Amino acid sequence: MRDIIIAGNWKMNKDAGETAKFCGELKDRLADVSAPGLRVIVAPAFVLLPAAKQALTGSRIEVSAQDVSSHVQGAFTGEVSAPMLASLQVSYAIVGHSERRQYHAETNELVRDKVQMLLDHQIIPIMCIGETLQQREAGETEAVLESQLTGCLNGIELQTGKELVIAYEPVWAIGTGKTATSEQAQQAHAFIRNWLQARFDAQIAQNLSILYGGSMKPGNCEELISQPDIDGGLIGGASLKTDDFVSMVHTGISVLKKGK
Ligand code: PGA
Repeated sequence: MRDIIIAGNWKMNKDAGETAKFCGELKDRLADVSAPGLRVIVAPAFVLLPAAKQALTGSRIEVSAQDVSSHVQGAFTGEVSAPMLASLQVSYAIVGHSERRQYHAETNELVRDKVQMLLDHQIIPIMCIGETLQQREAGETEAVLESQLTGCLNGIELQTGKELVIAYEPVWAIGTGKTATSEQAQQAHAFIRNWLQARFDAQIAQNLSILYGGSMKPGNCEELISQPDIDGGLIGGASLKTDDFVSMVHTGISVLKKGK
């Protein structure tokens, strides 16, 4: 069975004190939790990655960046490179989030270069794709996913499928309180997995965790991650509250225990 991943995308929330407090609480409350096949990740702002790492020392909770530069080093004011993240032992980085695509004009080609840069530095990309409401209503969901997958993975080679995570995040469900139904999400995830099988191979498609993102919360988490092709969540708003985040980690464990 694939790993289940519960990942909190904090976006531009939590300062230094709040990060240390939240991570300390998480470490304590999840201290006894050891479930093979479960990965728990938090993604604070770049500047707070060291504080989060420090507060989580001794726990199995991992840390992710929210972005990375497509350049390795040099005159790129304001950018943060993959080698810098690697030097902090950051294990993951989110790339291609719809907010980066929308507010920073990120293209599939740029996301592709970031994915390659992360793979070159042994950091696991959490690569986001997803359609807008307009595209869904026009019946274009699969065409959009296909063009994002094709562009973002153009020329990318994978060895096992464990070195990449994909997050399906329908743009209309992000931060809106509107969640895709479990059927809508499962359908999109199955489409992505089939595409991966055709583009890579069956083994890679089976190993690669595909997360759902878009208003996931304790009340809908279980139903979503019980679907055969939904392997966890990339959670924004609900990941900012300790109780909610801990509750979704426990849901991940119970789904793992039940098996799907
Ligand atoms: P949300 O955000 O859970 O607040 O909808 C998810 C995301 O943007 O990754």
